[in-house]
Amino acid sequence: MDEFVELADWFGWQLPHAPVVVDSLPTPNFMVKDRPLVSFSTNNYLGIATSSRTNAAAIAGIGKYGVGNSDSRLLGGNLPLYGELENKIARFNGKTHSILFATGYLANLGALSTLPRVAQIASAFGFKAKRDYTYAYFSDEHNHISIREGMRLSGARRYSYHHLDLDHLEKLLRRSTATSKIIVTDGVFSQDGDIAPIPDLMRLAERWNAMVYVDDAHGTGVLAKLRSLLSTSFAVEAVTLPRASIASRACRSSRRPDLCSTLT
Ligand SMILES: Cc1ncc(COP(=O)(O)O)c(C=O)c1O
Repeated sequence: MDEFVELADWFGWQLPHAPVVVDSLPTPNFMVKDRPLVSFSTNNYLGIATSSRTNAAAIAGIGKYGVGNSDSRLLGGNLPLYGELENKIARFNGKTHSILFATGYLANLGALSTLPRVAQIASAFGFKAKRDYTYAYFSDEHNHISIREGMRLSGARRYSYHHLDLDHLEKLLRRSTATSKIIVTDGVFSQDGDIAPIPDLMRLAERWNAMVYVDDAHGTGVLAKLRSLLSTSFAVEAVTLPRASIASRACRSSRRPDLCSTLT
């Protein structure tokens, strides 16, 4: 308790950062206290979050199903709609399966904390691995915080490579004795807008028998070239490229919490 009081005293019992309250969300035009402004940081890139078609579909969905799903998907809340949407998203990404998460943050948290523990989780169903596997993550230093948190929760070893530095990454891959290596990168980096060299990462992954995980939050629906690179890469080796295709960016849809982020 003392530490919390000490912290609160230090911050003067105020929030360290008070976000601006806006009267409308960026299209990119938005309003603050009757002042019209333009946002240069919005991720409503395609205007889908505020389009009349999306709004009408959301309202129709609420009319039919209400708000909130009343039960977990695992038990009594699994509407067919979710599976249909997952199939559509998988097809859109040229994949066979996808899983929906409520937000991009949760997609990275859920997937990255779980990947190194799949055998352990499957053991609840009677699975027994033929040998012991050890996992290590190799993460670009500019990756989104949700990636770093997800990896941390997994308990696996983590290595951070210098931003876009493939030589540094290869050095770390060479040194690692993990049986299962997972390279993790943003597709388009959220702060600087630069793009991960997916084909080069795929080549390194092949050389070092690694998997590549791409968080495509800022590429989906926006960067056709990256999309085609991702699809081409995936065609090389089906298990090599799980892809967090985070629709909460271009397809900004987090008002209906089930329809936001996917892992394909
Ligand atoms: C690369 C990346 N991944 C994940 C997220 C988290 O997405 P969400 O806001 O939907 O939780 C963000 C958010 O800015 C992001 O930039």
